[in-house]
Amino acid sequence: MPALHAWMQEATETSLPNPNAMTLATIDPDGRPSARIVLLRGLDERGAVFFTNRESRKGLALETNKVAALVFHWDPMERQIRIEGRVEHVSEAESDAYWQSRPRGSQLAARASLQSRPIVNREAFEKACREEEARYEGRNVERPSHWGGYRVSLERIEFWHGMNSRMHDRITYRRANDGWELERLSP
Ligand SMILES: Cc1cc2nc3c(=O)[nH]c(=O)nc-3n(C[C@H](O)[C@H](O)[C@H](O)COP(=O)(O)O)c2cc1C
Repeated sequence: MPALHAWMQEATETSLPNPNAMTLATIDPDGRPSARIVLLRGLDERGAVFFTNRESRKGLALETNKVAALVFHWDPMERQIRIEGRVEHVSEAESDAYWQSRPRGSQLAARASLQSRPIVNREAFEKACREEEARYEGRNVERPSHWGGYRVSLERIEFWHGMNSRMHDRITYRRANDGWELERLSP
């Protein structure tokens, strides 16, 4: 998707803080929406990839409703990108490769965190981190089976570009057979 790659590239070159931070919206099992920020860790024709705990709230939502929406907002560039599509797990090899690229401290914290579940207090989490540190002393930290990547397919992409006097540009791309169907929307 050349337009998407071009905008991502420009955002990266503009030295924005966290240009790869995106809002991820999912649908909880009871049909209600929920949203949070995650980091984009891969992008190609197959889709946009992020990594998380699959037993987290978003993970449980994605088990039931395998669809998601992503939003990037780059305020200094007056740009927004919206992506919508189906969600699947990335391969075990991709999750392993990304896990191994993470700092050891992040790996230990990811193992210690029962993401999205209540904890008694901060100390309980710090204790769990220390226990993981002791367990893996002198060896590689294993990726837990519940931690891995998801890929959001690129079914609909919308580019929004702020213009003078609110005459903003909005272009949507929708997957159509082998290519893309373009449509301009009223701002
Ligand atoms: C800048 C930023 C980047 C984040 N990146 C991730 C990420 O890549 N993966 C992740 O699981 N959580 C990430 N988080 C934390 C999530 O926003 C969220 O708190 C967490 O994943 C739990 O969400 P859930 O309870 O809806 O599953 C990030 C938060 C911020 C503010």
